[in-house]
Amino acid sequence: MMQIRPFERADAAAVIALWEECALTRSWNDPHKDIARKLAVQPELFLVGVTDGAVMASLMAGYEGHRGWMNYLAVAPRFRDRGLGRALVEHVERLLLERGCPKINLQVRASNPGAVEFYRRLGYAQDESISLGKRLIED
Ligand SMILES: CC(C)(COP(=O)(O)OP(=O)(O)OC[C@H]1O[C@@H](n2cnc3c(N)ncnc32)[C@H](O)[C@@H]1OP(=O)(O)O)[C@@H](O)C(=O)NCCC(=O)NCCS
Repeated sequence: MMQIRPFERADAAAVIALWEECALTRSWNDPHKDIARKLAVQPELFLVGVTDGAVMASLMAGYEGHRGWMNYLAVAPRFRDRGLGRALVEHVERLLLERGCPKINLQVRASNPGAVEFYRRLGYAQDESISLGKRLIED
């Protein structure tokens, strides 16, 4: 029931609305800039899920030659608990594996235990590492 395809420019408004509905936007991340940056780097790994012609899911992935990464996983609330989040992640796993990616890393906000449980169900385990970050461009 859900078609998975690469993001297209015409999807931008729907994708940003989805991220807002799924509480993924933050004041320090301009979603328009996040999309523009992704379209410049491996845009084929920025996927959307479409049902009845409407974007209702997203997943942004990348592979930098050592690890694959996933961001902006979202399934619209009315489509949850049907295995669609799993289908998107497993689709990206196949794309990353085709590129020779040996391991996927991802970050989940500490305030989001539901996403942690979701990823555990898909075989992801917590690494013994501390996540550090340094902002280079202020949005
Ligand atoms: C996380 C999210 C993508 C899950 O999408 P979904 O389509 O409902 O997930 P699925 O139906 O594919 O669930 C897959 C498995 O995870 C489990 N699961 C999903 N959400 C869960 C939750 N909140 N708590 C516990 N388990 C959960 C399901 O029960 C299912 O388990 P099973 O395969 O063993 O039966 C969706 O809830 C979402 O968009 N959340 C808001 C955005 C978000 O938090 N994104 C992640 C940022 S890191």
